[in-house]
Amino acid sequence: MNNTQKLLNLATKAAENAYAPYSKFHVGAAILADDGKMYTGCNAENVSFPVGTCAEAGAIAAMVAGGGKKIAEILIFADSKQLISPCGACRQRILEFAMPQTIVHLANKEGVKQSIKAAELLPYSFSEF
Ligand code: THU
Repeated sequence: MNNTQKLLNLATKAAENAYAPYSKFHVGAAILADDGKMYTGCNAENVSFPVGTCAEAGAIAAMVAGGGKKIAEILIFADSKQLISPCGACRQRILEFAMPQTIVHLANKEGVKQSIKAAELLPYSFSEF
């Protein structure tokens, strides 16, 4: 099984565990990091809506906590008709940890539907201060 397939399986599993009682929209994210390890996250909502967190944010936090420094590959999964695509804030989050070759895979139950370079997801991004 290749890495992308492994990420798809992990993200699908993470989405099953998502806490999304308000939106009912379950999202899973899985990262292959520069340390060779895979990390996952899911969305975790809150009754105070803005407090909820996205799957990507969870996976990135897990990577950082686990010692990973950079995202080699990230896959985002949702069982939705319209293809899942990271929100603006998560695009910025991904870019913070992206490498030049980092690919973002967008997937649903049929598998990976689109793969795009992280930098292309957020053109003209804020990077230095
Ligand atoms: N959500 C994610 O976890 N990732 C995305 O890329 C888009 C949206 C979550 C946030 C919220 O819990 C639910 O999906 C509906 O917006």
